[in-house]
Amino acid sequence: MDRIFSGIQPSGSLHIGNYFGAIKQWIKLQEKYQCIYGIVDYHAMTVVYDQKELPDRVMDAAIAYLSAGVDPEKSALMVQSQVPEHTELTWILNTVTPLGWCERVPTFKDKVRQNRDNVNLGLLDYPVLMTADIIIYKSVAVPVGQDQLPHLELTREIVRKFNSTFGDTFPEPKPIISEGALIIGLDGKQKMSKSLDNCIYLSDSPEKIKKKLSTAVTDTRRQRKTDPGVPQECNIYSLHKLLSTPQQQQYCHQGCTQASMGCFECKKILAENLINELAPLQEKQQFWLSHQDQVREILHQGGMAARAIAQQTIQEVREKVGLWK
Ligand code: TYM
Repeated sequence: MDRIFSGIQPSGSLHIGNYFGAIKQWIKLQEKYQCIYGIVDYHAMTVVYDQKELPDRVMDAAIAYLSAGVDPEKSALMVQSQVPEHTELTWILNTVTPLGWCERVPTFKDKVRQNRDNVNLGLLDYPVLMTADIIIYKSVAVPVGQDQLPHLELTREIVRKFNSTFGDTFPEPKPIISEGALIIGLDGKQKMSKSLDNCIYLSDSPEKIKKKLSTAVTDTRRQRKTDPGVPQECNIYSLHKLLSTPQQQQYCHQGCTQASMGCFECKKILAENLINELAPLQEKQQFWLSHQDQVREILHQGGMAARAIAQQTIQEVREKVGLWK
């Protein structure tokens, strides 16, 4: 079976952007691929973080994966730092990656802007570590949201450079992008993101979801109910496309363009559907919260299975690049 890898940083609670952009498709892909899903804690260290909280964040992420349907019988669920071959491969890849390739990655420039007091080398090396995460398992594909495409482009370039220097070793991994590839935040402007206060979290209660949606920005040209709106330009409508039935979508589309329905009603339908979508996940979250020893064991087993593959790859790489035996 072909292999795939994907991961999420444990840098805050997971939100519906992570869910629709990544995790939801991970679940389906378990049937078709050998999947390794990681909690990438080394990546989370590139910004200021609380070292006392990091283990809890890893646990939260593991619980979110399991609750969303990652099945440890089918997939390896692992913590990046439990497989140190990721960082060993990163060092080797650093030596074939021109500095300019990392400097031009858009997320590096954004992070420099956001972390003026902490522009560490890890921020620059971030996509090389991400490359190592993926190719240490010889993954053929990577299910991610749209924001990760520049990173994957760099991964493919590094793979080409490595293969042409040391001989064919790694497949060029392809992105797998879902329908919810880019979820915009409640501000209606920027990508939903843990670092911005614009998220609906997977653990938000029904009341919180209703409250957050009620103040979410819609089509800004629609000041009053009697102003016709443009659903294609409304963040709420884009969520309807992921969550509502075709009939509901048509009803909201018509109501908006013909100014016969207000944003309030449209949001109410969406809130119901989102609450229903998250209900089974939240129920499972409660279960895993009270079975954390079992979660630890799943991570341990997943880490060992992943490490066995990573060790084989690093052995081959060490030989190819001429390291001492
Ligand atoms: P991270 O932790 O920022 O996000 C995890 C996954 O969620 C997706 N995502 C979104 N999708 C749609 N709309 C949004 N608003 C949204 N926000 C987040 C991301 O695209 C991602 O798929 N660099 C990665 C972590 C990583 C990784 C890897 C991913 C490290 N190594 C190897 C894949 C393979 C990141 O920061 O994701």
